[in-house]
Amino acid sequence: MKFAVIGHPIKHSLSPLMHHANFKKLNLDYQYEAINIPESHFQHIREIISERELDGFNVTIPHKARIIPYLDDISDEAKEMGAVNTVKIKNGKWIGYNTDGIGFVKGLESYYGSLKDAKILILGAGGASKGITYQLKQKTTQPIFVANRTMSRFETWTFNINAVPLSEVTNIADQFDIIINTTPLGMYDSNDSILTFERLKKRALVCDIIYTPLETPFLANARHHGYDTYNGLDMFVYQGAESFNIWTAMDANINAMRTSVLNKLNV
Ligand code: ATR
Repeated sequence: MKFAVIGHPIKHSLSPLMHHANFKKLNLDYQYEAINIPESHFQHIREIISERELDGFNVTIPHKARIIPYLDDISDEAKEMGAVNTVKIKNGKWIGYNTDGIGFVKGLESYYGSLKDAKILILGAGGASKGITYQLKQKTTQPIFVANRTMSRFETWTFNINAVPLSEVTNIADQFDIIINTTPLGMYDSNDSILTFERLKKRALVCDIIYTPLETPFLANARHHGYDTYNGLDMFVYQGAESFNIWTAMDANINAMRTSVLNKLNV
């Protein structure tokens, strides 16, 4: 079978390396390539993909929304997100999915255990946040809180959450077992973090969805305050594993995938 990831730029994508590590472990003679498609060429996407005879492909920045009009069908979740990261091609038909949210949540469950009773706060209300929140809602019995700078972002959310302004997060942060940052703010090396770490629950788990670097300044700050931290590496690994499962109906080898990425990032 043949797969690919499309994006722009795509040179530094770790997806080919990660998927090949899985194919090798499972003794599969499959291929996975990175295809650079600038915005200006996107109208040729069907030809570009068809001539390669792919069985499916991943979609990354900046094309996750742009791909939607070219699909024959779309999963409910990807439709809700307005973003597609996985396309399955079957008998020439393109079906779009989004595995980013389930990827994060499956990874988090494997690390944390059951999320059933966990009280969770999500920082940010962009595409990534929406996918993660959508999946978390199926896993926890507790109300989920989502904090954002711009409250009007929530107008397009069709499922129920507790929306709070980002500026009020410090006042409520001590209620949560898990805090997940989906904003780019975690990258800024600032003392004025989004959160005042003194006010968190004693055993809170602090997460970021970024994995380059493996430890963002936000996570480093949390760790210095004594909290357990969890980065975005598993989200990347599990979203890939979920894509593989959609394409092949097989289970991916998570360890092989994670090790290949970690080895590359630690060079
Ligand atoms: P992604 O797909 O990675 O989630 P996105 O859809 O552009 O990216 O969402 C970015 C998120 O980071 C949003 O929640 C955004 O907040 P706004 O809705 O208020 O824009 C948040 N974000 C980005 N820069 C920010 C900043 N300087 N301060 C606070 N929030 C910020």
